[in-house]
Amino acid sequence: MEFQTAVITGGGGGLGRAFCEELGATRARIVVADIDLAAAEATVALVKRAGGDGKAVQCDVSDPAQIDALAATAKAWLGDVDLLVNNAGVAVAGDFAAIGLAEWQWIMGINLWGVIYGCRAFVPAMQARRRGAIINVASAAGLLSAPKMAPYNVTKAAVVALSETMHAELARDGIHVSALCPTFFRTNIGEASRGPLDPRMIKLMHSMMDRSKIQAPEVAQAALTAVAKNQLYVVPMADGRAMWRLKRLQPQRFYDLLASKLLRRFTRL
Ligand SMILES: NC(=O)c1ccc[n+]([C@@H]2O[C@H](COP(=O)([O-])OP(=O)(O)OC[C@H]3O[C@@H](n4cnc5c(N)ncnc54)[C@H](O)[C@@H]3O)[C@@H](O)[C@H]2O)c1
Repeated sequence: MEFQTAVITGGGGGLGRAFCEELGATRARIVVADIDLAAAEATVALVKRAGGDGKAVQCDVSDPAQIDALAATAKAWLGDVDLLVNNAGVAVAGDFAAIGLAEWQWIMGINLWGVIYGCRAFVPAMQARRRGAIINVASAAGLLSAPKMAPYNVTKAAVVALSETMHAELARDGIHVSALCPTFFRTNIGEASRGPLDPRMIKLMHSMMDRSKIQAPEVAQAALTAVAKNQLYVVPMADGRAMWRLKRLQPQRFYDLLASKLLRRFTRL
């Protein structure tokens, strides 16, 4: 499947911008949506430099009215949408008991409801056309549920469940659905995160992001290749694939191991 038109949420930075640049290099026309309009406009400039064309749209994915408006703009500017990437996402981390309800509601609104609103707004036109592709950006966190990231894990596990359901349900309509599940790579997600996160945990997260051999452009490439082939799970990093395999084979052992390792490393957190 080829993608001549696309809508990318959270396209103003990080992985979303990488998706836009990859697609721009194939001369695609892209609606770049982000809560930060200036960031979306900067991405459009990069898309044009890469050989494609783009339109920046301000859109908060946690607001269904704004997503409906985004779908209307996409219809008017692009016509048919070949690819939707539900990418906008944020992080909340820290001890479960110290995370406030406002933080839970904030992340659920963006990471989960944003994906649901996006799918609801774009799927009917894809069904009518009997063609389309959707990449839901989840995370390895949605497959592994590591400690100290409860709200993030919950939203990403739900995005995996939604993608699994849609993949099977929409296959007969010619629609490809993939769930993208990377481990850490360098973006601004740490800086934009909320929650009672210990500075040592932030330092550890940054060092894991910097150490990753696979960064945003490769993650975007992997997802675009996979969704074109209708592969449901996209787990681009080897560490993510290894941990996911262990969890599926020996779930009890996996969580016992995670608990003991975490306790050894963060006994004073
Ligand atoms: N970076 C990682 O290590 C990593 C790992 C696994 C999954 N992911 C996922 O990748 C996706 C992209 O995150 P990133 O790492 O590029 O982070 P990022 O913070 O660099 O980029 C996120 C973008 O989303 C935008 N955004 C935030 N809230 C929004 C909202 N309400 N509506 C619309 N746009 C909004 C931001 O302005 C920003 O441009 C997220 O879904 C994230 O969970 C990231």
